[in-house]
Amino acid sequence: MSMLKVENLSVHYGMIQAVRDVSFEVNEGEVVSLIGANGAGKTTILRTISGLVRPSQGRIEFLGQEIQRQAAQKIVSAGLSQVPEGRHVFSGLTVLENLEMGAFLRKNREENQANLQKVFSRFPRLEERKNQDAATLSGGEQQMLAMGRALMSAPKLLLLDEPSMGLAPIFIQEIFDIIQDIQKQGTTVLLIEQNANKALSIANRGYVLETGKIVLSGTGQELLASDEVRKAYLGG
Ligand SMILES: Nc1ncnc2c1ncn2[C@@H]1O[C@H](COP(=O)(O)OP(=O)(O)OP(=O)(O)O)[C@@H](O)[C@H]1O
Ligand SMILES: [Mg+2]
Repeated sequence: MSMLKVENLSVHYGMIQAVRDVSFEVNEGEVVSLIGANGAGKTTILRTISGLVRPSQGRIEFLGQEIQRQAAQKIVSAGLSQVPEGRHVFSGLTVLENLEMGAFLRKNREENQANLQKVFSRFPRLEERKNQDAATLSGGEQQMLAMGRALMSAPKLLLLDEPSMGLAPIFIQEIFDIIQDIQKQGTTVLLIEQNANKALSIANRGYVLETGKIVLSGTGQELLASDEVRKAYLGG
């Protein structure tokens, strides 16, 4: 079943067109990776899906509802949450307070408590550091916090914008293991990455974006094996 359907999406910033007639979909239970170089339009697509940027053209459907004109908060309530590029944890707030911010739209205390326990069991390091100022976490820990915060709203679809950016290899592996685990637990994932190798290795399907356009698509394995992807993203 198609969970997210993006049809003929175009996005402009003033006179600049950042996204050109992009169409793709994410089916329930999948990890779908969207890869592309700096400036290809990846973050713009993600922010448009989340309702933070308005498209100039096209349609976005989430769980059968048109969302391209909906408010961002309403889209979160419908079950879609995103981990923004560069994590953006709230400094001056503790780890626990950051996680609570992720549940601010949910009023059910017991559910929030249960989600918090799930997040702590997935990220034991966050529980150990729950009273620490989020700004003092390491980069990898901040990525975990940003992911934990997004999971606090128990999303059906999780959007991740370059979760491996700036992390040491051992942390990168941990983040990708966690993404696979999130998928196993029943959350669908749209993953944006420049680390094409890792992102395609764990993806059911993927799309390659170049200067705002989708130029290739296929299963993760097909894309990993394709000459174009190998040349452009995997160093030959
Ligand atoms: N707020 C903005 N105003 C004007 N132009 C923007 C704005 N945000 C992004 N752009 C432009 O849109 C294009 C796509 O940017 P976007 O951030 O979507 O790329 P990206 O694929 O996420 O790149 P990166 O991998 O570097 O994060 C770029 O040329 C960028 O300069
Ligand atoms: Mg980006």
